[in-house]
Amino acid sequence: MELEAQPSSVSRRRALNMLGASAATCLLPLASGRAQDVPTRLVAAPASLPIVGAPHAETDVWAYNGTVPGALVRVRRGAKLRIELENQISDVTTIHWHGVRVPNAMDGVPHLTQPPVERGKSFIYEFVAEDAGTFWYHPHWQSFEQVERGLYGALIVDEDEPPKVDRDLLWVLDDWKLTSEAKLVEDFGNFFEVSHAGRIGNTVTINGRVPDTVTVRSGERIRLRLANTANARIFALRFPGLQPRVVATDGHGIEPHEPADGRVVLGPGMRADLMLDCLGKPGDRVRVIDDFYPRQTYRLVDIVYGQEPPLRGSSLMESVALKPNPVPQPRIADAERHRIEFGGGMMGSLQEAQIRGQRRPMREIMQQGMAWAVNGKVATGHIHDPLLTLRRGASYLLTLVNDTAWHHPVHLHGHAFKVLKRNDEALRIPEWRDTVLMSPKERVEIAFVADNPGDWMLHCHILEHQAGGMMGVLRVA
Ligand code: C2O
Ligand code: CU
Repeated sequence: MELEAQPSSVSRRRALNMLGASAATCLLPLASGRAQDVPTRLVAAPASLPIVGAPHAETDVWAYNGTVPGALVRVRRGAKLRIELENQISDVTTIHWHGVRVPNAMDGVPHLTQPPVERGKSFIYEFVAEDAGTFWYHPHWQSFEQVERGLYGALIVDEDEPPKVDRDLLWVLDDWKLTSEAKLVEDFGNFFEVSHAGRIGNTVTINGRVPDTVTVRSGERIRLRLANTANARIFALRFPGLQPRVVATDGHGIEPHEPADGRVVLGPGMRADLMLDCLGKPGDRVRVIDDFYPRQTYRLVDIVYGQEPPLRGSSLMESVALKPNPVPQPRIADAERHRIEFGGGMMGSLQEAQIRGQRRPMREIMQQGMAWAVNGKVATGHIHDPLLTLRRGASYLLTLVNDTAWHHPVHLHGHAFKVLKRNDEALRIPEWRDTVLMSPKERVEIAFVADNPGDWMLHCHILEHQAGGMMGVLRVA
């Protein structure tokens, strides 16, 4: 069931209001390099928001500071953040700063790095933003429910000298499973979704609203920051005629390049920064298409050229490349190698696995509502024996093996890693990432320096898979 972005029954006047409202939310203008109002408090609380838009009812959500996405946290690289989380929802919670290389105690993993924050209580997160880039934040407790209800926000760290652009835009992408009354379907974590592709919804939003159009000016250069905060939906975005260039993956600068097959693929948790040179004529229209799932192609949004005269006749000459972040380079030649196997799920070949310390047939494990294993172990909580203990400062090369029939975006906390190979084939342009999307049966080689001491989660960011056992801990000691 697809909710209509702009129901035909709305009056013209109302439609114009909606257009104005959503243009404002989609085109959140972000002046680069300017001092911002950085929130010092994030209150997680229930709210009602017009996710689908009139005439549909508002949706009951959970939100940080009353908005979805939550308050934008934007600082300059090297800034110190001090943010108090206050919990006003009916469950315990935490905040994880996805992709940010924080000290372990600030990582927001319940029980593993901090006690979960009780209702009415708060917790202060304090860390330095060492890396520039596009990051995000979300709870790490029952995230398949809490993130789905709307608890997520963007964290942008500006470069010392950002590349010259005319506008810096942010699209936080989400996917909701709503009833025809625009209410959340409250079947979070059901076994079907846990054991298949996760909770894939029916309503896609940009910055918390079903989008209609986004207006650009002929000639302008836009830096478009994309973040996929959906529980499970994978996006493959096409911008026909705009020839986007990818300049960052998961916040980290990369040699600017056009994405393979013209599709920007984002698994849950992943980000991409694009440079768009808008070289169409006033009045032109670009349909942004998402065609990740075969036979389920849809139009995400239309980019429409406004009527103002072109800002310039050809694209800006300035380079779009970003300076690298201060992430240590792994020494591949003397890196220690390990294999990490992801198994289980429907149509999987895994026969048995270890759960709560005991070997059990997968069939029995599935009867307990769990479905996935990492190196043969099904995680039932955030604390468990580490999959690996890494020596602080040493380089590691991990082969991540997807031995399942499903996609998995695998996320590592506390570090950024370099993606070197897929199925033994070297990437033409290596990517720094914190989350890497593995196709069914794919093998991905990543390398990094284990320089951040502590216990760090390694898990699938399809939040239902994570809840179904697909997580583990890497210890850096
Ligand atoms: Cu974005 Cu462990 O999560
Ligand atoms: Cu997964």
